[in-house]
Amino acid sequence: MNALDRLPMRARSPLPPYVRGWFCVADSDEVKQGEMKAVSFFGDQFVVYRTPDGVARVANAFCPHLGAHVASHDGKIEEGDIVCPFHKWRFAGDTGLCKSVPYSDAPAGKVGLKVYPTKELLGLILMYFDPSDRPADELPTYDTDEFVMSEWTKSADKSWVIYAHAQEFVENIFDPAHLTQLHPTTIMPVYEKLEERDYGYYIRLGFSEGEQFPVESVEFNFAGLSYSYQITKGTGFQVVTIGTFTAIDEERTLQRVRLYVKKSAHEAFDEIVGQQFSERFIFEVEQDLNVLNYKKHLPAPKLCVGDGPIYQYRRYAQKFYPLAV
Ligand code: FES
Ligand SMILES: [Fe+2]
Repeated sequence: MNALDRLPMRARSPLPPYVRGWFCVADSDEVKQGEMKAVSFFGDQFVVYRTPDGVARVANAFCPHLGAHVASHDGKIEEGDIVCPFHKWRFAGDTGLCKSVPYSDAPAGKVGLKVYPTKELLGLILMYFDPSDRPADELPTYDTDEFVMSEWTKSADKSWVIYAHAQEFVENIFDPAHLTQLHPTTIMPVYEKLEERDYGYYIRLGFSEGEQFPVESVEFNFAGLSYSYQITKGTGFQVVTIGTFTAIDEERTLQRVRLYVKKSAHEAFDEIVGQQFSERFIFEVEQDLNVLNYKKHLPAPKLCVGDGPIYQYRRYAQKFYPLAV
Protein backbone atom coordinates (compact mmCIF):
# COMPACT_ATOMS: atom_id res chain seq x y z
CA MET A 1 0.00 0.00 0.00
CA ASN A 2 1.16 3.54 -0.66
CA ALA A 3 2.12 5.74 2.27
CA LEU A 4 -0.64 8.34 2.14
CA ASP A 5 -1.30 11.49 4.10
CA ARG A 6 -4.72 11.63 5.67
CA LEU A 7 -6.86 14.74 5.52
CA PRO A 8 -8.55 15.68 8.79
CA MET A 9 -12.14 14.47 9.05
CA ARG A 10 -13.66 17.93 8.64
CA ALA A 11 -12.04 18.12 5.20
CA ARG A 12 -13.21 14.64 4.24
CA SER A 13 -16.72 14.38 5.61
CA PRO A 14 -19.74 16.59 6.30
CA LEU A 15 -21.36 13.84 8.44
CA PRO A 16 -22.18 14.75 12.05
CA PRO A 17 -19.34 13.18 14.07
CA TYR A 18 -21.67 11.76 16.71
CA VAL A 19 -25.00 10.03 16.08
CA ARG A 20 -27.55 8.47 18.43
CA GLY A 21 -27.73 4.77 19.17
CA TRP A 22 -26.66 1.89 21.40
CA PHE A 23 -22.88 1.82 21.58
CA CYS A 24 -20.58 -0.86 22.93
CA VAL A 25 -18.35 0.64 25.63
CA ALA A 26 -16.88 -2.53 27.15
CA ASP A 27 -17.21 -6.30 27.22
CA SER A 28 -19.16 -7.74 30.17
CA ASP A 29 -16.13 -9.58 31.55
CA GLU A 30 -14.04 -6.39 31.60
CA VAL A 31 -16.23 -4.86 34.33
CA LYS A 32 -16.22 -6.71 37.63
CA GLN A 33 -18.38 -5.93 40.65
CA GLY A 34 -16.89 -3.09 42.70
CA GLU A 35 -14.57 -1.92 39.91
CA MET A 36 -14.82 1.11 37.69
CA LYS A 37 -13.51 1.15 34.11
CA ALA A 38 -12.71 4.54 32.59
CA VAL A 39 -13.45 4.87 28.86
CA SER A 40 -13.18 7.69 26.28
CA PHE A 41 -15.87 7.99 23.61
CA PHE A 42 -17.77 10.75 21.75
CA GLY A 43 -15.00 13.23 22.59
CA ASP A 44 -15.88 12.77 26.29
CA GLN A 45 -15.10 10.39 29.15
CA PHE A 46 -17.26 7.92 31.04
CA VAL A 47 -17.01 5.28 33.75
CA VAL A 48 -18.47 1.78 33.41
CA TYR A 49 -19.22 -0.13 36.65
CA ARG A 50 -21.72 -2.49 38.29
CA THR A 51 -24.14 -1.73 41.07
CA PRO A 52 -24.45 -4.39 43.87
CA ASP A 53 -27.40 -6.01 42.02
CA GLY A 54 -24.93 -6.87 39.23
CA VAL A 55 -26.39 -4.37 36.76
CA ALA A 56 -23.85 -2.71 34.46
CA ARG A 57 -24.07 1.11 34.38
CA VAL A 58 -22.37 3.94 32.56
CA ALA A 59 -21.98 7.47 33.97
CA ASN A 60 -20.25 10.61 32.82
CA ALA A 61 -16.80 10.70 34.40
CA PHE A 62 -16.74 14.32 35.56
CA CYS A 63 -17.93 15.28 39.02
CA PRO A 64 -20.55 18.08 39.02
CA HIS A 65 -18.84 19.67 42.04
CA LEU A 66 -15.54 20.89 40.59
CA GLY A 67 -15.02 18.60 37.63
CA ALA A 68 -12.67 15.89 38.91
CA HIS A 69 -12.58 12.67 36.88
CA VAL A 70 -14.21 10.24 39.31
CA ALA A 71 -11.82 7.41 38.35
CA SER A 72 -8.68 9.56 38.85
CA HIS A 73 -6.37 9.22 41.89
CA ASP A 74 -8.23 6.99 44.40
CA GLY A 75 -11.75 7.48 43.02
CA LYS A 76 -13.70 4.29 43.65
CA ILE A 77 -16.92 2.32 43.90
CA GLU A 78 -17.90 1.78 47.54
CA GLU A 79 -21.04 -0.19 48.43
CA GLY A 80 -22.34 0.54 44.95
CA ASP A 81 -21.73 4.31 45.23
CA ILE A 82 -19.20 6.32 43.26
CA VAL A 83 -16.90 8.28 45.56
CA CYS A 84 -15.15 11.24 43.93
CA PRO A 85 -11.44 11.47 44.83
CA PHE A 86 -11.30 15.27 45.15
CA HIS A 87 -13.69 16.19 48.03
CA LYS A 88 -15.24 12.73 48.56
CA TRP A 89 -18.76 13.55 47.39
CA ARG A 90 -20.66 10.28 47.13
CA PHE A 91 -23.04 9.47 44.23
CA ALA A 92 -25.63 6.67 44.07
CA GLY A 93 -24.52 4.14 41.44
CA ASP A 94 -28.03 3.61 40.04
CA THR A 95 -29.32 7.20 39.74
CA GLY A 96 -26.05 9.13 39.86
CA LEU A 97 -27.56 11.51 42.46
CA CYS A 98 -25.34 12.91 45.19
CA LYS A 99 -26.04 11.06 48.47
CA SER A 100 -23.68 12.79 50.82
CA VAL A 101 -20.94 15.38 51.15
CA PRO A 102 -18.54 14.84 54.07
CA TYR A 103 -18.53 18.52 55.10
CA SER A 104 -22.03 19.77 54.17
CA ASP A 105 -25.70 18.74 53.83
CA ALA A 106 -26.64 21.20 51.13
CA PRO A 107 -26.22 19.54 47.71
CA ALA A 108 -27.29 15.96 48.55
CA GLY A 109 -30.10 14.77 46.24
CA LYS A 110 -29.98 17.89 44.07
CA VAL A 111 -27.01 17.36 41.80
CA GLY A 112 -25.56 14.25 40.29
CA LEU A 113 -23.51 12.46 37.68
CA LYS A 114 -25.35 11.76 34.46
CA VAL A 115 -26.16 8.03 34.25
CA TYR A 116 -26.93 6.70 30.75
CA PRO A 117 -29.37 3.96 29.70
CA THR A 118 -27.32 0.76 29.62
CA LYS A 119 -27.96 -2.83 28.49
CA GLU A 120 -25.98 -6.01 28.45
CA LEU A 121 -26.40 -8.23 25.42
CA LEU A 122 -24.34 -11.19 24.20
CA GLY A 123 -21.39 -10.34 26.44
CA LEU A 124 -21.36 -6.65 25.50
CA ILE A 125 -22.12 -3.58 27.61
CA LEU A 126 -23.99 -1.06 25.48
CA MET A 127 -24.86 2.51 26.42
CA TYR A 128 -27.42 4.72 24.75
CA PHE A 129 -25.91 7.98 23.61
CA ASP A 130 -27.61 10.82 21.79
CA PRO A 131 -25.86 14.14 21.11
CA SER A 132 -29.34 15.75 21.24
CA ASP A 133 -30.34 13.97 24.47
CA ARG A 134 -33.58 12.37 23.18
CA PRO A 135 -35.01 9.38 25.09
CA ALA A 136 -33.52 5.98 24.28
CA ASP A 137 -34.87 3.78 21.48
CA GLU A 138 -35.49 0.18 22.37
CA LEU A 139 -32.55 -2.03 21.48
CA PRO A 140 -33.84 -4.99 19.49
CA THR A 141 -33.37 -8.39 21.10
CA TYR A 142 -34.08 -10.29 17.87
CA ASP A 143 -30.73 -11.99 17.94
CA THR A 144 -31.00 -13.67 21.35
CA ASP A 145 -33.68 -16.08 20.05
CA GLU A 146 -31.31 -18.02 17.87
CA PHE A 147 -28.10 -17.16 19.67
CA VAL A 148 -27.63 -19.07 22.91
CA MET A 149 -24.01 -18.41 23.80
CA SER A 150 -23.25 -21.91 25.12
CA GLU A 151 -24.03 -23.38 21.69
CA TRP A 152 -21.38 -21.29 19.96
CA THR A 153 -17.57 -21.11 20.13
CA LYS A 154 -15.85 -17.73 20.00
CA SER A 155 -13.18 -17.93 17.35
CA ALA A 156 -12.10 -14.31 16.95
CA ASP A 157 -12.26 -11.02 18.84
CA LYS A 158 -10.49 -8.15 17.15
CA SER A 159 -10.63 -4.39 17.35
CA TRP A 160 -9.37 -1.59 15.16
CA VAL A 161 -9.14 2.15 15.69
CA ILE A 162 -10.42 3.39 12.35
CA TYR A 163 -10.27 6.84 10.77
CA ALA A 164 -13.75 6.59 9.36
CA HIS A 165 -17.31 7.31 10.41
CA ALA A 166 -19.43 4.24 11.32
CA GLN A 167 -21.88 5.25 8.59
CA GLU A 168 -19.12 4.78 6.01
CA PHE A 169 -18.28 1.28 7.13
CA VAL A 170 -21.91 0.12 7.27
CA GLU A 171 -22.46 1.59 3.78
CA ASN A 172 -20.31 -1.27 2.46
CA ILE A 173 -23.20 -3.67 3.00
CA PHE A 174 -25.16 -1.65 0.43
CA ASP A 175 -22.28 -1.64 -2.02
CA PRO A 176 -22.14 -5.10 -3.63
CA ALA A 177 -19.80 -3.93 -6.40
CA HIS A 178 -16.92 -3.52 -3.94
CA LEU A 179 -17.27 -7.19 -2.93
CA THR A 180 -16.05 -8.38 -6.29
CA GLN A 181 -13.72 -5.47 -7.05
CA LEU A 182 -11.99 -4.81 -3.71
CA HIS A 183 -12.46 -8.19 -2.02
CA PRO A 184 -11.76 -11.66 -3.33
CA THR A 185 -15.47 -12.53 -3.67
CA THR A 186 -15.98 -14.06 -7.08
CA ILE A 187 -19.78 -13.96 -7.32
CA MET A 188 -21.88 -10.83 -6.90
CA PRO A 189 -24.46 -11.55 -4.17
CA VAL A 190 -28.18 -10.99 -4.73
CA TYR A 191 -30.27 -8.89 -2.31
CA GLU A 192 -33.02 -11.36 -1.48
CA LYS A 193 -34.49 -9.07 1.18
CA LEU A 194 -33.84 -5.46 2.14
CA GLU A 195 -36.13 -4.27 4.89
CA GLU A 196 -36.00 -1.12 6.97
CA ARG A 197 -37.28 -1.86 10.48
CA ASP A 198 -37.94 0.33 13.52
CA TYR A 199 -34.59 -0.43 15.06
CA GLY A 200 -32.53 -0.65 11.92
CA TYR A 201 -32.20 -2.77 8.83
CA TYR A 202 -32.59 -6.40 7.92
CA ILE A 203 -30.78 -7.59 4.81
CA ARG A 204 -30.50 -11.03 3.34
CA LEU A 205 -27.87 -11.68 0.69
CA GLY A 206 -27.93 -14.87 -1.34
CA PHE A 207 -24.94 -16.45 -3.06
CA SER A 208 -24.99 -18.92 -5.86
CA GLU A 209 -22.32 -21.61 -6.27
CA GLY A 210 -18.71 -20.84 -7.05
CA GLU A 211 -17.61 -19.04 -3.87
CA GLN A 212 -14.39 -20.02 -2.15
CA PHE A 213 -16.57 -20.66 0.90
CA PRO A 214 -19.70 -22.75 0.44
CA VAL A 215 -21.81 -19.82 1.69
CA GLU A 216 -25.55 -19.99 1.05
CA SER A 217 -26.82 -16.84 2.71
CA VAL A 218 -25.73 -13.91 4.81
CA GLU A 219 -28.28 -12.08 6.96
CA PHE A 220 -27.54 -8.72 8.55
CA ASN A 221 -29.54 -7.23 11.36
CA PHE A 222 -28.29 -3.93 12.47
CA ALA A 223 -29.41 -1.33 14.91
CA GLY A 224 -28.74 2.32 14.13
CA LEU A 225 -25.22 2.74 12.82
CA SER A 226 -23.47 1.18 15.78
CA TYR A 227 -24.32 -2.48 16.20
CA SER A 228 -24.55 -5.26 13.64
CA TYR A 229 -25.44 -8.90 14.05
CA GLN A 230 -24.61 -11.01 11.03
CA ILE A 231 -25.37 -14.68 10.55
CA THR A 232 -23.74 -16.61 7.72
CA LYS A 233 -25.18 -19.96 6.80
CA GLY A 234 -23.35 -22.47 4.64
CA THR A 235 -23.09 -26.16 3.99
CA GLY A 236 -22.71 -27.72 7.44
CA PHE A 237 -21.83 -24.56 9.35
CA GLN A 238 -23.14 -21.30 10.78
CA VAL A 239 -21.11 -18.30 11.81
CA VAL A 240 -22.29 -15.25 13.77
CA THR A 241 -20.37 -12.02 13.57
CA ILE A 242 -21.12 -9.18 15.96
CA GLY A 243 -19.73 -5.85 14.87
CA THR A 244 -19.76 -2.68 16.96
CA PHE A 245 -18.77 0.88 16.12
CA THR A 246 -18.26 3.53 18.81
CA ALA A 247 -16.91 6.98 17.95
CA ILE A 248 -13.87 7.86 20.06
CA ASP A 249 -13.64 11.45 18.88
CA GLU A 250 -14.25 13.40 15.70
CA GLU A 251 -11.45 11.58 13.85
CA ARG A 252 -11.56 8.02 15.16
CA THR A 253 -14.01 5.17 15.71
CA LEU A 254 -13.43 1.97 17.64
CA GLN A 255 -14.55 -0.96 15.52
CA ARG A 256 -14.71 -4.37 17.15
CA VAL A 257 -15.66 -7.75 15.72
CA ARG A 258 -16.43 -10.96 17.61
CA LEU A 259 -16.90 -14.10 15.57
CA TYR A 260 -18.67 -17.25 16.78
CA VAL A 261 -19.06 -20.67 15.15
CA LYS A 262 -22.08 -22.87 15.92
CA LYS A 263 -20.88 -26.00 17.73
CA SER A 264 -21.28 -29.15 15.65
CA ALA A 265 -20.51 -32.73 16.67
CA HIS A 266 -16.94 -32.24 15.44
CA GLU A 267 -14.87 -29.80 17.40
CA ALA A 268 -11.94 -30.00 14.99
CA PHE A 269 -14.22 -29.08 12.08
CA ASP A 270 -15.60 -26.08 14.00
CA GLU A 271 -12.07 -24.93 14.68
CA ILE A 272 -11.14 -25.06 11.00
CA VAL A 273 -14.34 -23.21 10.01
CA GLY A 274 -13.70 -20.58 12.71
CA GLN A 275 -10.09 -20.11 11.72
CA GLN A 276 -10.71 -19.85 7.99
CA PHE A 277 -13.74 -17.63 8.37
CA SER A 278 -11.98 -15.31 10.85
CA GLU A 279 -8.91 -15.01 8.66
CA ARG A 280 -10.96 -14.09 5.65
CA PHE A 281 -13.24 -11.74 7.58
CA ILE A 282 -10.31 -9.88 9.16
CA PHE A 283 -8.52 -9.73 5.81
CA GLU A 284 -11.60 -8.17 4.19
CA VAL A 285 -12.11 -5.63 7.01
CA GLU A 286 -8.50 -4.56 6.55
CA GLN A 287 -8.98 -4.26 2.79
CA ASP A 288 -11.99 -2.01 3.49
CA LEU A 289 -9.98 0.07 5.95
CA ASN A 290 -7.17 0.58 3.42
CA VAL A 291 -9.76 2.59 1.48
CA LEU A 292 -12.11 3.94 4.18
CA ASN A 293 -9.36 5.42 6.34
CA TYR A 294 -8.62 7.91 3.55
CA LYS A 295 -11.83 8.33 1.56
CA LYS A 296 -14.12 11.34 1.37
CA HIS A 297 -17.84 11.17 1.99
CA LEU A 298 -19.36 12.52 -1.22
CA PRO A 299 -22.91 13.76 -0.58
CA ALA A 300 -23.71 13.36 -4.28
CA PRO A 301 -21.73 10.35 -5.52
CA LYS A 302 -21.80 9.55 -9.24
CA LEU A 303 -23.42 6.12 -9.12
CA CYS A 304 -23.98 3.89 -12.13
CA VAL A 305 -26.16 0.95 -13.09
CA GLY A 306 -24.92 -2.03 -11.09
CA ASP A 307 -24.26 0.00 -7.91
CA GLY A 308 -26.24 -0.86 -4.77
CA PRO A 309 -29.02 1.02 -2.91
CA ILE A 310 -26.63 3.55 -1.42
CA TYR A 311 -29.06 6.50 -1.41
CA GLN A 312 -31.70 4.35 0.28
CA TYR A 313 -29.21 3.55 3.05
CA ARG A 314 -28.14 7.18 3.42
CA ARG A 315 -31.75 8.28 3.97
CA TYR A 316 -32.04 5.67 6.72
CA ALA A 317 -28.76 6.83 8.32
CA GLN A 318 -30.16 10.36 8.74
CA LYS A 319 -32.65 9.09 11.34
CA PHE A 320 -29.75 8.83 13.77
CA TYR A 321 -28.31 12.30 13.26
CA PRO A 322 -28.54 14.93 16.00
CA LEU A 323 -31.35 17.50 15.80
CA ALA A 324 -30.42 20.58 13.78
CA VAL A 325 -29.45 23.50 16.00
S1 FES B 1 -14.78 17.59 42.40
FE1 FES B 1 -15.76 15.79 43.01
S2 FES B 1 -16.11 16.07 45.11
FE2 FES B 1 -15.25 17.91 44.47
FE1 LIG C 1 -16.05 -4.66 2.43
